[in-house]
Amino acid sequence: MIHLHDKTFEAFISSEEIDFAIKNMAKQMDDDFFNEIPVFVGVLNGAFMVMADLMKQYRGMCEVSFVKMASYEGTQSTNEVKQLIGLNQDLEGRTVIIVEDIVDTGNTIEELKAILKDKKVKHLKIATLFLKPDAFKKDIKLDYVGIRIPNKFIVGYGLDYDGLGRNLADVYQLAE
Ligand code: IMP
Ligand code: MG
Repeated sequence: MIHLHDKTFEAFISSEEIDFAIKNMAKQMDDDFFNEIPVFVGVLNGAFMVMADLMKQYRGMCEVSFVKMASYEGTQSTNEVKQLIGLNQDLEGRTVIIVEDIVDTGNTIEELKAILKDKKVKHLKIATLFLKPDAFKKDIKLDYVGIRIPNKFIVGYGLDYDGLGRNLADVYQLAE
């Protein structure tokens, strides 16, 4: 059990399970992009850990970049997604893989797709370590999904509850 602010969280997904999922994602990506140099775009803040571990497992040549988005307040997704740090890299003709820590409602991914629309990218792929299938209602293809989880609030491995918990190596869920 761990305590963050006013809430209690219990062990949910181990760092070993996360490691296994990330290795599988990297392997699929290596197969898919063997003849090109993709640009991986991590979505800050949450995706900093998955980006670091995924990039260490990816064997091919690649570029790494970040964009900063925010939609969550406390344990609730808000409908308004804000872009806090923009993407200033030239992506024309490139294969771009957006890397998310978690896809919940899909609002963030939808907004990112809109932002990238006029960047003339060749292929846009979406990767997420975690997916909440029961919350995700968008008609958007998720190309790489690590671990599907129930519609519960989680922290750790980059994910926070009001700023806390991002540095935990394992993932915890809100205790009932
Ligand atoms: P969406 O826009 O609703 O898909 O939510 C995406 C963003 O909300 C993620 O990138 C996370 O930063 C945050 N988020 C979604 N679910 C959780 C959760 O269970 N714990 C912590 N952050 C979350
Ligand atoms: Mg995020």
